[in-house]
Amino acid sequence: MNLWRTTRCAALTALLLLVGVCASVPVSAGGGALTPTIAKGKGDKCVAPTEYMRRNHMDLLDHQRDDTVIDGIRTERFSLKGCVSCHAVKGEDGRAVTVKDERHFCASCHLYAAVNMDCFDCHASRPDEAKKLGALRKKSHARDMAVLKDYLKGAER
Ligand code: HEC
Ligand code: HEC
Ligand code: HEC
Repeated sequence: MNLWRTTRCAALTALLLLVGVCASVPVSAGGGALTPTIAKGKGDKCVAPTEYMRRNHMDLLDHQRDDTVIDGIRTERFSLKGCVSCHAVKGEDGRAVTVKDERHFCASCHLYAAVNMDCFDCHASRPDEAKKLGALRKKSHARDMAVLKDYLKGAER
């Protein structure tokens, strides 16, 4: 009983120490070569205060809370097209780079933070690339159909 308690306490202390070390990494990396290089956006301000955007852009873009997909209402202010256009980064050929390039605005940060997002499977990641709406719709429709099929399978039982 006492031994268990001691072991558990030691394990907890080790865990806390580990968490502490991890949490301090970004701080010690500040200013060094380890920080991501994030290209500056066009114009003098973002669609919301920069500090707010850093923390909350994912919520603004979320399909779940996005009127465009659910109700067919266009919320231009937080459109993904807008982000991609203002935050375009030119490559050697003079064209904006795609999200596969580590200089791409979204990629620069996400690669660093190891964030995985599939948005650009469907959406264009550079402004001069018209997204194929037909294919887009089909693809997202296919996903809906898969969900429906799963649901129906469950209902049969
Ligand atoms: C399976 C395909 C698919 C994926 C993956 C996807 N979307 Fe979409 N998205 C759509 C379709 C279809 C529309 C509606 C097309 C339109 O009206 O422009 C849309 C519309 C939007 C819009 C509103 C229109 C615009 O251009 O701004 C936003 C914002 C958006 N998506 C963000 C995201 C984000 C963020 C992700 C990743 C987390 C994502 N989407 C992933 C298919 C997809
Ligand atoms: C009108 C042009 C414009 C549009 C549209 C725009 N941005 Fe910005 N964004 C900026 C500018 C300018 C800054 C500030 C750049 C700076 O301070 O380095 C910025 C800053 C940011 C930052 C912080 C970058 C950093 O260095 O930490 C994020 C994240 C961001 N924007 C995401 C988005 C997203 C997501 C969208 C689409 C919903 C978007 N932006 C749309 C111009 C824009
Ligand atoms: C300043 C750094 C930074 C920039 C620039 C940035 N992001 Fe992010 N993004 C993050 C971080 C960090 C997370 C993870 C946040 C979390 O997990 O709580 C994230 C998460 C997201 C998510 C949610 C992913 C998920 O798994 O739910 C979406 C969608 C997203 N970003 C879209 C964008 C788009 C689109 C751009 C480019 C217009 C962009 N981000 C640029 C830092 C950034």
